[in-house]
Amino acid sequence: MRATLEEIRRASLEAIESVIDTEALEALRVKYLGKKGELTAVLKSMGGLDPAERPVMGQLANEVRAKIEDAISSKAADLKRKLMEQKLALEAVDVTIPGTKDDFGKKHPLTIVWDEAVDIFTGMGFTVAEGPEVELSEYNFTKLNTPDGHPARERSDTFYLTDDDSVCLRTQTSPVQVHVMETTRPPIRIISPGGVYRKDEVDATHSPIFHQMEGLVVDKGITMGDLKGTLNTLVKRLYGPEAVTRFRPHHFPFTEPSCEVDIQCFECHGEGCRVCKGEGWIELLGAGMVHPRVLAGCGIDPDVYSGFAFGVGLERMAMRRFNISDLRLLYENDVRFLGQF
Ligand code: PHE
Repeated sequence: MRATLEEIRRASLEAIESVIDTEALEALRVKYLGKKGELTAVLKSMGGLDPAERPVMGQLANEVRAKIEDAISSKAADLKRKLMEQKLALEAVDVTIPGTKDDFGKKHPLTIVWDEAVDIFTGMGFTVAEGPEVELSEYNFTKLNTPDGHPARERSDTFYLTDDDSVCLRTQTSPVQVHVMETTRPPIRIISPGGVYRKDEVDATHSPIFHQMEGLVVDKGITMGDLKGTLNTLVKRLYGPEAVTRFRPHHFPFTEPSCEVDIQCFECHGEGCRVCKGEGWIELLGAGMVHPRVLAGCGIDPDVYSGFAFGVGLERMAMRRFNISDLRLLYENDVRFLGQF
């Protein structure tokens, strides 16, 4: 019996040692220690032994069992560790391999100046208002003190959508002034960027669709000084603290007095050059004090309230900001061009 036990010990330990997966290990456990296992069979036959020999063989059998159990559990731990190592090696990520670069789009130059302008004005306490691009002529013209028969209403300049000319594509963002003044009470401080349409032939400085940003402030005691301060802030934020402005008298039907704001040419500083076409100044925007008739038409008492308004062309702003010489580039969607900004 001793020889049988020794043989079981030798054979089982050798087999366990060379096992390479957990299923085979489990099969070995059953083979030696299971109910019908080899060691179990030896223990069962113990009854037939000489009584003096029983405790000795019993002890040896227990030793062998313990040895096998130890070998199995340490092998099991071993296999588990190896499996984990394998898995880790397989799933390893080499963080030093260069990544694949995603080709993200970029903001369109118009969107850049649009966002910048909105940022500057919201910083001064303005909110953004919206209005329709398909507009009643009443709002695009009449309520802006531009009555029937006024030359600004010519069919040659405006896209009318009805035969009676009562609906059009807005030619300016100014009708948003009226929508806001009809629906909110002062103090009013809004800007309104958006698309506008005019029957212009496409060339380096014209397009039948372009974008403006309207501004409107109405409150008690608003003066031309507020207009100048606000627009100077805009210009200096956009073009730097050195930027010089000029407020030049002009005419708009819906503001009185009206002005155009020029910025001194950054190329020649007023001397006159190719960039400013010899003028020394570059036109930037139209502005003025809201006409009392426009205020009254919106139910705001012009004896109590006053306001200023301005309209700035966003294409022009983008062209100046990025030194773009042809407006068409903004609409051709050539990514080689747009990718530069
Ligand atoms: N709407 C005018 C234009 O398109 C600009 C403007 C806006 C002028 C507001 C005065 C006040 O030229």
